[in-house]
Amino acid sequence: MEAYFFDWLNMFFRWFHVVAGVAWIGASFYFVWLDLNLRQPPQWKTDKGVKGDLWAIHGGGIYEVAKYQLEPPQMPVKLHWFKWEAYTTWLTGFALMSVMYYWGADQYLIDPSKMDLTQVQAIGISLAFLVGGFVFYEALVKSPLQNFPKVFGAILFSGLTFAAYALGEIFSDRAAYLHVGALIGSIMAGNVFFGIMPAQRELVRAIEAGEKPDPRPSAFAKLRSTHNNYFTLPLLFIMISNHYPMTFAHDQAWLVLALICANAAFIRHYFNLKHQDNHQPWILGAGAVMLFAIIGWMMPMPVSTDSDQVAVPVSDARVVEVSQLRCASCHAAKPSSEMFSAAPGGIELETLEQLQTNKARILAAVQSKYMPLANMTKMTDQERIEMVSWAKQPKNFNH
Ligand code: HEC
Repeated sequence: MEAYFFDWLNMFFRWFHVVAGVAWIGASFYFVWLDLNLRQPPQWKTDKGVKGDLWAIHGGGIYEVAKYQLEPPQMPVKLHWFKWEAYTTWLTGFALMSVMYYWGADQYLIDPSKMDLTQVQAIGISLAFLVGGFVFYEALVKSPLQNFPKVFGAILFSGLTFAAYALGEIFSDRAAYLHVGALIGSIMAGNVFFGIMPAQRELVRAIEAGEKPDPRPSAFAKLRSTHNNYFTLPLLFIMISNHYPMTFAHDQAWLVLALICANAAFIRHYFNLKHQDNHQPWILGAGAVMLFAIIGWMMPMPVSTDSDQVAVPVSDARVVEVSQLRCASCHAAKPSSEMFSAAPGGIELETLEQLQTNKARILAAVQSKYMPLANMTKMTDQERIEMVSWAKQPKNFNH
């Protein structure tokens, strides 16, 4: 019964998280695009204090957008704020993480072959990491380094890469990636909560009090917003990487993460320049070359099935035995694992017939080490090689 509610909570929060994230990142993309596409307004608008002018057509209507340098001549009756998109994304993300990685710590967070943690220890490390990483970023962004974007970026990037490496030594592969994503998401939501919103409140307060607004908080808010902008593509990659064990289960998963994220931020840079009419197509070209280089480098060196490691062809009986031992606690009509009420992915692996049916997928999942999930069932390398060898053998090879 627990597994049933686990699944519902998992699905509900994931759904909600994706919806909120679409709203947040969608608004973020829109405003970055808007800001960078603002052009010099005609004189009569400049006289009103308008700094940037933009016209757009969407949904059958023409829009006129004006951005003020700081204060408009008159405050509108209704001023729209954008914050709940960010907060909701963070809250639902944290809820989802709590359900999956904290409640389901034994399945998803802890990898006893790396560190044999208790649930409480693992959750403690996870929370300490998120808080520590967040404090690190806040200290960095408030330091004078904020004025040196390249140094700032290099330090932040190195810090996150180190985090990915360290997490990979502690948690399951999948959890290690997810934690880097959760930290980036928390930094981004923190930028809204602790930086952008207070600056906006100060701007509105000063205007309403009839004071001359101080441009510095607004400029700092813009800096944080720019950081968020470069985080978006890497963050989205990390969130979808969960479906691709070739990334998070790679032997140098931390390096895969660093390379793909660096490339993604670089691609984001292309669009930021393009929005300002600064076309630098070489960035896209370089990004593509980089991506192909990554793809080539990552090409799986599958668990080796040399004949010296598997002396004889693997018998059907043997593979059923291995599956019973390492797979069937989850992949059964009635899983004995308390986390599942039905076979995950609808894949049952109790009988030879079922194994035959799923041969190709078993090959991919076991060879890449995606399965057994977080190697919970402690499959040995020898068993892995046997199962992979069997999956590669033609049917009834040894009959
Ligand atoms: C602890 C539970 C657990 C164990 C043990 C386990 N699996 Fe899985 N398996 C899962 C879950 C959960 C999924 C669905 C994962 C997802 O959707 O990303 C899955 C998915 C799969 C898939 C589908 C992957 C795909 O997307 O194509 C295959 C194939 C698979 N498992 C094979 C195996 C084999 C073979 C073993 C034993 C060597 C095994 N599993 C052991 C939990 C488990």
